[in-house]
Amino acid sequence: MKVGFIGTGSMGSLLINTFLASGALDAYQITASNRTREKVVNLASLHPGLYPAKTNRETAERSNIVFLCIKPHEFKEVIEYIKPVVTPDQIIISITSPVQIRHLESALPCKITKIIPSITHLTGSGASLCIHGNRMNDEDKQRVEMLFSYISRPIRVEETYTRISSDFSSCGPAFVAFFLEQWVEAAVRKTGITSDEATRLASEMLLGTGKLLAEGAVTPSQLQERVAVPGGITAKALNLLDSSLAGVFDQLIQVTHAKYEKDLEALDAEFGAGEINRQQY
Ligand SMILES: NC(=O)c1ccc[n+]([C@@H]2O[C@H](COP(=O)([O-])OP(=O)(O)OC[C@H]3O[C@@H](n4cnc5c(N)ncnc54)[C@H](OP(=O)(O)O)[C@@H]3O)[C@@H](O)[C@H]2O)c1
Repeated sequence: MKVGFIGTGSMGSLLINTFLASGALDAYQITASNRTREKVVNLASLHPGLYPAKTNRETAERSNIVFLCIKPHEFKEVIEYIKPVVTPDQIIISITSPVQIRHLESALPCKITKIIPSITHLTGSGASLCIHGNRMNDEDKQRVEMLFSYISRPIRVEETYTRISSDFSSCGPAFVAFFLEQWVEAAVRKTGITSDEATRLASEMLLGTGKLLAEGAVTPSQLQERVAVPGGITAKALNLLDSSLAGVFDQLIQVTHAKYEKDLEALDAEFGAGEINRQQY
């Protein structure tokens, strides 16, 4: 199996590095191209055997599975350019949420899948969201999910829920890191504990809490009950959080979804169905 990566920025290089480190792929299986070629040349020198293609078309031609690790507004140009060399048996994987399966299926003759990865895959953890297109058969689905199982927990989601699912799995690490940072900064200000010590304690706590919840041992609600004795310290702090954060998460979801809708509108305009159908064959 040959795997191509178009775009080797933050996520493209993360996927390449983690697939290689986990043993999911060998370097000789990988072809990659990037607008700024230096990034691919650097990756090739880190991973002997990885082929640094000069063009995206070359990446597409050399690969059975092609990852598009670019931003939404870059899709149209890249797809138009690779389209002449894409064949029906190839699988193209988009890693970005607003680009819809229908956009890609109408623009390319191949199998389409959307897989939203997460920075947590750096530690071989976190959910990778799998949204398979209509042309993917069971074997294709298993093939890409098997690849992702080396670095994550692949979870199938409906495309309608891509955005909210990504809020948790791919934006979530940034949100939680923000909370921890604010909490640590307050601890340093109020008590004099060092930032390093507080960050270490908070990180260990987060890891343990994540394991408890992910392994299904407790629900978020049960966890709070187990820790918070009525009238005790934790209960008082939970009451404070409850009143201070009222409505924040509704607003958070509104913000992420508004940006998503804006990207989606732009993509719908670019991938106009009539125009794409005419160009397809
Ligand atoms: N960051 C995350 O945690 C995360 C998680 C899940 C999904 N995603 C999605 O992944 C996508 C990529 O995000 P990112 O964080 O990896 O962005 P990024 O670091 O900016 O990487 C994008 C890469 O695409 C390259 N590129 C742009 N146009 C190109 C073209 N025509 N041909 C080849 N390469 C091209 C850029 O090249 P240059 O070097 O020239 O800039 C850059 O290296 C986004 O849509 C994002 O929503 C990100």
